[in-house]
Amino acid sequence: MQWGMQNRMSRIVQPDTGHTVMLAVDHGYFLGPTSCIEDAQKTIEPLIGYADVLMPTRGVLRNCVSAKTQTPIVLRVSGGTSVIGEALSNEGITTAFEEAIRLNVAGVALSIFVGTPHERQTLLSLSELVNQGERYGIPVIAVTAVGKELGKRDARFLGLCSRIAAELGCHLVKTYYCEEFEKVIEGCPVPIVIAGGPKLETEMDAFRMVADAIKKGAVGVDMGRNIWQNPHPVAMIKAVRALVHENATPDGALEIYMHEKG
Ligand code: 5RP
Repeated sequence: MQWGMQNRMSRIVQPDTGHTVMLAVDHGYFLGPTSCIEDAQKTIEPLIGYADVLMPTRGVLRNCVSAKTQTPIVLRVSGGTSVIGEALSNEGITTAFEEAIRLNVAGVALSIFVGTPHERQTLLSLSELVNQGERYGIPVIAVTAVGKELGKRDARFLGLCSRIAAELGCHLVKTYYCEEFEKVIEGCPVPIVIAGGPKLETEMDAFRMVADAIKKGAVGVDMGRNIWQNPHPVAMIKAVRALVHENATPDGALEIYMHEKG
């Protein structure tokens, strides 16, 4: 791996623990002003210092994040569809690679929609992005999107998507946690982070999911709603950090959450 690529990867996956807590704040690119991130600046400000990486679009980055931040950015560069449109899967690349370089990002992220009519176009977009990423030493994160069909989140499907993304050259895969998650990990030769998905009923549900994912080999999380839709988002991200970086148990994480929320 060339120096620039290696250096950026080590800004994403922390070299001291081999893990990462990425904070996903890109939801507006197809969901609009999602609950609890209507004012993105207000949501991001208290949390950014606790995230190893922030994942916004360029619009939110430019308008809602201080350029003085020391938190590395993984830029969402795919989109072009909305939750009320015909097909969420009909995504393209929305942001020029030069723009990502200008924004001094640590990585770029795009969704792939395997098993949809737009599978080919999103996989070719991933390949194109990897070509550019290799040219400039910028890691590419492939997000194995499921669109509105959350039921698709099983090991067979997510394993297939993750492996294809890795075969096409991405440097990190973002997928969902699922039963038999170890099979997804086994079949994927690049590191995996998990998304949180829609907000779970209790904090403990989220802590158990993160702990299990780490135990089974995920290098971390790229989590949004289960952090910033929680009434105590800072307490939540601190607890998630303990799970990811310090091998805390779900009970330990709950203790941290209860203490931090005051
Ligand atoms: C959408 C995304 C989101 O960033 C992702 O779903 C992570 O956020 P959450 O933890 O809220 O699911 O990539 O395609």
